[in-house]
Amino acid sequence: MGRARLGTVHAVEPHPDVVRRLLAVEPVRRHLRDLLADDPGRAERYVATVGDLRLDWSRQPVDDRLLADLRGVAEAAGVAGRFAAMQAGDHVNPTEDRAVGHMALRAPAGTSFVIDGVDVVPEVHAVLRDMAAVAERIRADGSITDVVNIGIGGSDLGPAMAVSALADHAHPRLRTHFVSNVDGDDIARVLAVCEPSSTVFIVVSKTFGTVETLTNARTARRWVVDALGEHAVAERFVAVSTDAGRVRDFGIDPEGMLGFWDWVGGRFSVWSAVGLSLMIAIGPDGFSDFLAGARLVDEHMSATLSDGRLDENAVVTLAMIGILHRSVLGRASRAVVPYSAALARLPAHLQQLEMESNGKSVTLGGAPVGVPTSGVVWGEPGTNGQHAFFQLLHQGTDVIPVDLIGFATAGHGLGGHHDLLFSNLLAQAQALALGRRSADEPHRNFDGDRPSTLILAERLTPSVLGQLIALHEHIVFVQGVVWGIDSFDQWGVELGKELSGRITPDLIGSGPLDGHDAATRAAIEWYRSHRGG
Ligand code: F6P
Repeated sequence: MGRARLGTVHAVEPHPDVVRRLLAVEPVRRHLRDLLADDPGRAERYVATVGDLRLDWSRQPVDDRLLADLRGVAEAAGVAGRFAAMQAGDHVNPTEDRAVGHMALRAPAGTSFVIDGVDVVPEVHAVLRDMAAVAERIRADGSITDVVNIGIGGSDLGPAMAVSALADHAHPRLRTHFVSNVDGDDIARVLAVCEPSSTVFIVVSKTFGTVETLTNARTARRWVVDALGEHAVAERFVAVSTDAGRVRDFGIDPEGMLGFWDWVGGRFSVWSAVGLSLMIAIGPDGFSDFLAGARLVDEHMSATLSDGRLDENAVVTLAMIGILHRSVLGRASRAVVPYSAALARLPAHLQQLEMESNGKSVTLGGAPVGVPTSGVVWGEPGTNGQHAFFQLLHQGTDVIPVDLIGFATAGHGLGGHHDLLFSNLLAQAQALALGRRSADEPHRNFDGDRPSTLILAERLTPSVLGQLIALHEHIVFVQGVVWGIDSFDQWGVELGKELSGRITPDLIGSGPLDGHDAATRAAIEWYRSHRGG
């Protein structure tokens, strides 16, 4: 499905001016306690609704002047122009010479999104129809009990997170498993609870060259063939990839392959056939709601940016607050704490989305960025996190901004739980911001002034999940534009893959190790002498 014709590559100059403006930004130096007490109106002014999301940055160290300055930086960086270029199918991923089309994946039928001279919306909807046919067949087939997604990175994290988030909406008969790690324990624990005759494997790999995925897929294939014979592969395996040739070489008939396109980045791919496991779990209608949710955030971006209303764009505001913390105040990490056990895997998805996209140190022009880019994203659900790392958030020596995500209503209907859960979210936001002085007992002192953003919605539905993910995708985009980097490549993962390819034969061989440095040589020798069967 790749295309040879190139789209317009937008020349982007390194923008030292943007960095200069960013470094000239004057932070707000007042305690959040005072900001809230002196200006209670911020509890309304600093809240926006995007789709079903209530976004609340009133506990962030900003005021009207600073917000205007930050939006000025975003404007100077050309966020609106870059967004328009992405929508126009320009090659805004220049190091891979590719367009960036994840918004096309949720474009409604009848609209158009042109990439390399072709309107891709009809192809996108053709694949969605093929996915729906596979999903309906599996959902209707009473003999199938287990669906196993084999993939890694973007071919795992998005669907794994979404399936777990929407477990309440899932088909009651089907269990969905995710196998990603090349560590055999990962697939072994799944095969141990599945039966070959009632399990379907979805092998998801954009490149179909990822060693972890192919190793796991080979193991799964052997497991099926040993039990049912070669003929069973066709009905037990579905491939999702951009490379039909490699799918065939692997031994899966590419006839039934579900395709996607090189203009879909792995970490932005859950909306494509990569989301097949999610569609099987929640059904084609649920998946369509998921896409429609993301579209609401796309529309917010388009509507506000197309006529320069950056001040009404809540995504730009949140992105710039993130840049304030990272690039101006030097805060090296951000915690994401969903008050929802269902969203336990959201921090992991955001790790890839943000750190693989914006963990870069050179601009599109090849110069050093000049300010810190993506920090570390981490987190666990609340209230669990409160009994683990919140001590550090409240009294540690580093200030770590926190995103608190919560819902007004739970799907479980178990009395007594949800009000308690939500009150904890609010209590943490309050404690972080206001603190509590204790002059006599320093160990009981809470300085406060610790920022948080609240992301709330009525309940966690497919649409709301789509909105949440798209919100973060667009934050990543805006930040990447301001930092002047390519948010859509991932060259930083290549060196380790290449070296692993050289180390593997030496681990299992007995030849000389001259090609390695002394530390690696010693470790290989240790491994050789201790290696099990
Ligand atoms: O190693 C990083 C990466 O390339 C990710 O960007 C991608 O999501 C993942 O590997 C899996 O790649 P593939 O879908 O090609 O197997």
